[in-house]
Amino acid sequence: MTKKSSGHPCALGPTSVGIPKRLQSPGSGKPAVSALAAPPSPEFSFGLKPTEVARHLGRFVIGQAEAKKVLGVALCDHFQHVRLTLEGKPAPFYQKQNVLLLGPTGVGKTHLIRSAADLIGVPFVKADATKFSETGYVGGDVDDLVRDLVRRTGGDVKRASHGIIYLDEIDKLATRSSGAGRDVSGRGVQTNLLKLMEDGDIPLISPNDINAQMQAAISAARGQAHGGPDTISTRHILFIASGAFSGIGDIIRTRRNRPHREGSDVLSHVSTSDLIAYGLEPEFVGRLPVRVACHGLDEDDLFQVLQKSESSLLHQYVRAFAAYGITLRFEDGALRALAALAGHEQTGARGLMTVMERVFRDLKFRLPSTGIRRFTVTPAVVADPVRELRRLLRGRKIG
Ligand SMILES: Nc1ncnc2c1ncn2[C@@H]1O[C@H](COP(=O)(O)OP(=O)(O)O)[C@@H](O)[C@H]1O
Ligand SMILES: [Mg+2]
Repeated sequence: MTKKSSGHPCALGPTSVGIPKRLQSPGSGKPAVSALAAPPSPEFSFGLKPTEVARHLGRFVIGQAEAKKVLGVALCDHFQHVRLTLEGKPAPFYQKQNVLLLGPTGVGKTHLIRSAADLIGVPFVKADATKFSETGYVGGDVDDLVRDLVRRTGGDVKRASHGIIYLDEIDKLATRSSGAGRDVSGRGVQTNLLKLMEDGDIPLISPNDINAQMQAAISAARGQAHGGPDTISTRHILFIASGAFSGIGDIIRTRRNRPHREGSDVLSHVSTSDLIAYGLEPEFVGRLPVRVACHGLDEDDLFQVLQKSESSLLHQYVRAFAAYGITLRFEDGALRALAALAGHEQTGARGLMTVMERVFRDLKFRLPSTGIRRFTVTPAVVADPVRELRRLLRGRKIG
């Protein structure tokens, strides 16, 4: 469970003042996107179009155009539906467009959702599907997700009932005999999730939480009714699931009878039957009707992740050195070299972390004690940081 991604602080609320802070372009002080012409309802305002959501995501996430498009539409739809419902215009036949994101590790699936959640200001919780168990005794109980949403809103059941639940590592619930799946309890967790994803009423107090149950019973016995509802409906909660689904490419290629012709974009052809063959239950797959594949990141993508993304790892390094009064600069050639090394790691943008740590290990250890005030990372530094450091320090006394 991530702390940072707890959603916009003024979820569903005070964004009427203007535009959420995160949407304002840095430095300019002006909103990066236009506000609604009409004053939005104070209860609930958003005013973004799908293209604007996608553009916002683009500040942090490189590539993944299709996923940005799908999320832009899904989030705006969800938000507009919530708004109309709260304005007393319910849509009794509205069907939720729950989303499934597929793609290899480290290409931005979680990053996309996190960046989106910060933006749209509905309550948001994230969990790894692996932490749940069928009975709820060993791991968590899936219903806790909904109760977490309520907690995030400080007990505002109405707001929580329009939140977003993000389930990562959903592929680990698959029950294939081939070993890629977890075990049979994955099926039980899928079954428990079904009722959440559809339209369930979840007790606000967990039946497993003995303390809370006793507190409630005592309050009730004293006649201290809390006045609020005892359950929360999940009918309007949007679910976004993601997973790497490693190995599903073979299933897709076999079905399509194209064993060799499709490379990494094979995931974009995923069908319901492939997901079922992978080991997910048909009912479960059916409740994730919107599917989108994230592509792998090539060297150029990784270069852009470093150079262009506002969440680039470079900022972290610049900041770390600045703390010692050292100005760190990167030559483009160095970024290219880092991207090339990271590409070999085959772990997407996570490879950048591994490579940067390796390149900077000695520099981070030694430079703060040298009195050096500026340091430029060149391709030569990336190729052999220790040699470059030695060259730099030759003749200097180390403090
Ligand atoms: N497409 C991308 N653009 C920018 N940064 C990315 C991208 N993909 C991954 N990253 C970086 O790598 C980290 C790990 O990515 P993440 O989204 O958690 O991967 P996954 O696809 O496995 O969920 C992110 O926190 C982010 O810093
Ligand atoms: Mg992830």
